[in-house]
Amino acid sequence: MEASVLSPYYHIIFAAIALLVSGIMILFTRNSKSKRLTLPPGPPGWPVIGNLFQVAGSGKPFFQYVRELLPRYGPIFTLKMGSRTMVILSSADLVHEALIEKGALFATRPSENPTRTIFSCDKFTVNAALYGPVWRSLRRNMVQNALSAAKLRTFRHVRDTAMDKLVERLKMEAEANGGAVWVLRNARFAVFRILLAMCFGVEMDEKTIEKMDDMMKTVLITLDPRIDDYLPLLRPFFSKQRKKAMEVREQQIATLVPFIEQRRAAVKNPGSDPTAAEFSYLDTLFDLTVEGRKHPPTNPEIVTLCSEFLNGGTDTTGTAIEWAIARFIENPTIQSKLYDEIKATVGEKRVDEKDVEHMPYLNAVVKELLRKHPPTYFSLTHSVIEPAKLAGYDIPIGTNVEIFLPGVAEDPKLWKNPKKFDPDRFLTGGEDADITGVTGVKMLPFGVGRRICPGLNMATVHVNLMIARMVQEFEWRSFPEDTKIDFSEKLEFTVVMKKSLRATIRPRV
Ligand code: HEM
Repeated sequence: MEASVLSPYYHIIFAAIALLVSGIMILFTRNSKSKRLTLPPGPPGWPVIGNLFQVAGSGKPFFQYVRELLPRYGPIFTLKMGSRTMVILSSADLVHEALIEKGALFATRPSENPTRTIFSCDKFTVNAALYGPVWRSLRRNMVQNALSAAKLRTFRHVRDTAMDKLVERLKMEAEANGGAVWVLRNARFAVFRILLAMCFGVEMDEKTIEKMDDMMKTVLITLDPRIDDYLPLLRPFFSKQRKKAMEVREQQIATLVPFIEQRRAAVKNPGSDPTAAEFSYLDTLFDLTVEGRKHPPTNPEIVTLCSEFLNGGTDTTGTAIEWAIARFIENPTIQSKLYDEIKATVGEKRVDEKDVEHMPYLNAVVKELLRKHPPTYFSLTHSVIEPAKLAGYDIPIGTNVEIFLPGVAEDPKLWKNPKKFDPDRFLTGGEDADITGVTGVKMLPFGVGRRICPGLNMATVHVNLMIARMVQEFEWRSFPEDTKIDFSEKLEFTVVMKKSLRATIRPRV
């Protein structure tokens, strides 16, 4: 979802303009059709701007604002964000009705703001495409040709190397800093290294990885929502930002195209590049047939598809690892149970991804992690392909349907003691949940239904493997030692720890 990071300062700058505009617009909207629709209830707002300034002016992250409205408005409510109508869902029944029972109806995405349209090549990505032929072609390609179990196996050595390099980096950082390491930064870097190799078919050196990472972060910052995304009438005031966005897009293309061309040459002349991997995501894109199109993707479109691949799995996975380590530090018993399981399963050898399939406690820890700390608190925004009903309310075309994941995963009607981080619930307590939502919805860190995350299997391998290696190699403690972990959250693309986690590590051997 994208409404999360509107800076409160906009409140002051644009209040006057928006109120003026309100006056004019109210005349046009008085007799609008939407008056006859029965939308879910929600906090009263201003004409035209709706609840926009209540949200932005609260100074709270959007997920916090939504959490506080739940007791008052229940599991389905409406927020008017300027020209956008947002309907928030936060119960398993409603998610089931929308994404499973009426899955085809709720499977599309709403219109994008102009900046996103530039970077998505007019919705030419799996995540942004409208529900239709382009989405089907791109998604099928990603799932069947790039992320199938067989293709994932070909990258096993890439994951092993990335884990070795992660351990090396952590050791060096700890040695230089009295045992202290930054968790998120290192975990992100490790997974980014894997995704880059999978995407471009070359293992890059650290300098190049950092350059790519900087580029990716610049793009994400450029995509941060602005006030004019919600009040298009204000767009003329943002021409500088639009120009900047175009420049960033050009930089992004200039940075990525050389890697694309290098791979294209290697695919055309097999054996010509000894560093080239046997397969990469790029290989599936060069000649991709997209339903309804006569030509394969252009280079700018390939840049966009590669960025999606890298963005989808980097911050999400890194964030999961940060919360995991925080939980292990808070609860040394969980950490030592995990270490005991690793030792009992692999003895003295290095734990690898085959082993993690035989470690029920690790699997329970990861599941509990994704229940209690889903890396994103909202799934990507859904929208309807035609006017629909949900829980008896109207959901018009163009509505942003937002799913608040903790509303389901922390529902006391579904979970015993839901606030507690307790991996044992999946082993002893008779509690379980199908993470794919096929047999019912109780938690949905990857979404459910037609738009469920296509990276689910790969991401689960990455999280399991990284945790196993990090706990096998090191004992994790707080930094400074004997301080308490602060579990406050903040939004930074994903929901990360407000106080970025620095931990003390001690090598086990
Ligand atoms: C722990 C890691 C991850 C989490 C928690 C996660 C979570 C999610 C969520 C919540 C959605 C939205 C589902 C919806 O719209 O209902 C999603 C969609 C998506 N994810 Fe992931 N994801 C992760 C890793 C990955 C990876 C590794 C990739 C690929 C390399 C990826 C690629 C995508 C794509 C392309 C979509 C859009 C699917 C569509 O619209 O059809 N994700 N993910």
